[in-house]
Amino acid sequence: MKINLATNLGKIKLKNPILVASGTFGYAKEFEKLIDLKKLGGIVTKTITLKPRLGNPPPRIVETPSGMLNAIGLQNPGADVFVRERMPFLRTLKIPIIVSVMGHSVEEFVEVVKFLEPVAGVDGFEMNLSCPNVSYQNSASTPKASAPACPAGRDSSLTSSARMFAHDAGMIEEVVSAVRKETKKTLIAKLSPDVSDIAQMALSSERGGADAVSLINTFMAMVIDIKTRRPVLGNKTGGLSGPCVRPIAVRMVWAVRKKVSIPIMGIGGIMGAKDALEFLIAGASAIQVGTANFINPQTSLDIVYGLRNFMQQERISDIKEIVGSVKE
Ligand SMILES: Cc1cc2nc3c(=O)[nH]c(=O)nc-3n(C[C@H](O)[C@H](O)[C@H](O)COP(=O)(O)O)c2cc1C
Repeated sequence: MKINLATNLGKIKLKNPILVASGTFGYAKEFEKLIDLKKLGGIVTKTITLKPRLGNPPPRIVETPSGMLNAIGLQNPGADVFVRERMPFLRTLKIPIIVSVMGHSVEEFVEVVKFLEPVAGVDGFEMNLSCPNVSYQNSASTPKASAPACPAGRDSSLTSSARMFAHDAGMIEEVVSAVRKETKKTLIAKLSPDVSDIAQMALSSERGGADAVSLINTFMAMVIDIKTRRPVLGNKTGGLSGPCVRPIAVRMVWAVRKKVSIPIMGIGGIMGAKDALEFLIAGASAIQVGTANFINPQTSLDIVYGLRNFMQQERISDIKEIVGSVKE
């Protein structure tokens, strides 16, 4: 039986719906000898900011039951070096490259996307919204909210009381629509699970003009060393990821599917084909593999293989028949 795994995300055509998640796959070259990169559905790069960032003090990673906590602090070489030193390799892969971007204000988000828009080989942008909006904090007309320190995939260099974009539906719509005006490429909003109603945040992304939403980023969390009574991570808090978050992520994809009509990329603790299928059935059009890359870099391709097998067995010829097929 002929199996069709192809799907679309905005203007991006994916040959299969399995991508690797931001921050867990570097800029792909690091994995060149471990996996046949060309077979991936696509790559989401580590988050890029306009200027280089050093990241958080160590320790940056700690293992937890069925997961891990990290506070890397968005270490990255900045947009200019990324384009000159990382894009040439990524371009050779001839698979969709989605650049994860972040800014500390609407203007900074706009700037980094404007800079990357003309770059050959960049197929789309995933906006990492888990960062504080500094201009919001400084604005006299808006209240100062106290946001916790920022874990994985989140900006933790600013221990200010600035509110995160991802935590405010109004700010999401504002920043997504500002960036939308600057790019014709596929625009994806990546959402934080640390909100009471993630579907509302997805709706704001759609209203702002996003072509798709990615969910979830990590959960803010903490591990304490009982001997020293100090937090283990240098940043005190970190982002929780891995299999422990999966059922929550599946529930969130399911809830978002009911609210928005743009495609969803499901992320959170996907370790194999069965997990990926749960997300697809819940309503994700594509999925991203994150923490699993640290355990087995081949996970994504194992999932592609497993999906095909499942579809053969179930006599399903097109992956789209699976997406959102949950029975209630
Ligand atoms: C070490 C590490 C670094 C991460 N860095 C980023 C990042 O730079 N940008 C981002 O949007 N998400 C980042 N994330 C979040 C992942 O992309 C993903 O959303 C999250 O880990 C949940 O998926 P998982 O359970 O499969 O890892 C990071 C996660 C980990 C574990």
